[in-house]
Amino acid sequence: MSAFPPAGKVIVAIDGPAGAGKSTIARHLARHFGLLNLETGAMYRAFALKALRARLPLDEISALEALAAETSIHLEPGEEENRVLLDGEDVTGLIRNQIVTDAASRVSVFPAIRAWMVRLQQQLGSAGGVVMEGRDIGTVVFPDAQVKIFLDAAPEVRGMRRFDQLGPQAAVPPEEVIRALRARDERDRNRPDSPLKAAPDAVLLDSTHMTLDQAVRAAEAIVAAKLGEPV
Ligand code: DC
Repeated sequence: MSAFPPAGKVIVAIDGPAGAGKSTIARHLARHFGLLNLETGAMYRAFALKALRARLPLDEISALEALAAETSIHLEPGEEENRVLLDGEDVTGLIRNQIVTDAASRVSVFPAIRAWMVRLQQQLGSAGGVVMEGRDIGTVVFPDAQVKIFLDAAPEVRGMRRFDQLGPQAAVPPEEVIRALRARDERDRNRPDSPLKAAPDAVLLDSTHMTLDQAVRAAEAIVAAKLGEPV
């Protein structure tokens, strides 16, 4: 790890669709450059879990807004993944299944929910020294981030990576994982409020023909070049 002096202020924004390797890459970058890793998707997932538990219809914004008003979500950066606290409860192990994944993509279309999350994320990252990953970090949450990377890969490749990650938990064939991922992409890219898209000044990293390890090295080189640091 090379903790460079201005790390306290640096914000590295990593955006991209599901399965592009954001979490793996963000985790490595955080370790390599001595930064904290903040996964914003986990915050939408935690809120979705609360909405599911409350049995709220996921398309009723007034009910979701009322729920958000009485919800606290906090991320604690860790070596491997973030610890996610929902109203003080550690829900880290409960938010990665397909039902919560799908619900997170649904609740995140609403501007009021996004505005609330963006405020929380800005508070979490405002001191700098962070790698923050999500869908709108370089465009909305930290448009002035020093480094912005937009990670992408062909949907089939992302779907297969997700399938391999899930292992025996997948419980469905790879085609189904790819189908669900395409449906989520569609929603994330086409919502009117802060859709998933690359910031104009983001560096595009397409890992379709790379191993994740190669993508990690490429991302390290991008960050080092931006910050004027040796890799
Ligand atoms: O990155 P993830 O798969 O954990 O994200 C789950 C969902 O949360 C994703 O489908 C869209 C939403 N999301 C978002 O809208 N904005 C972010 N910054 C992060 C996630």
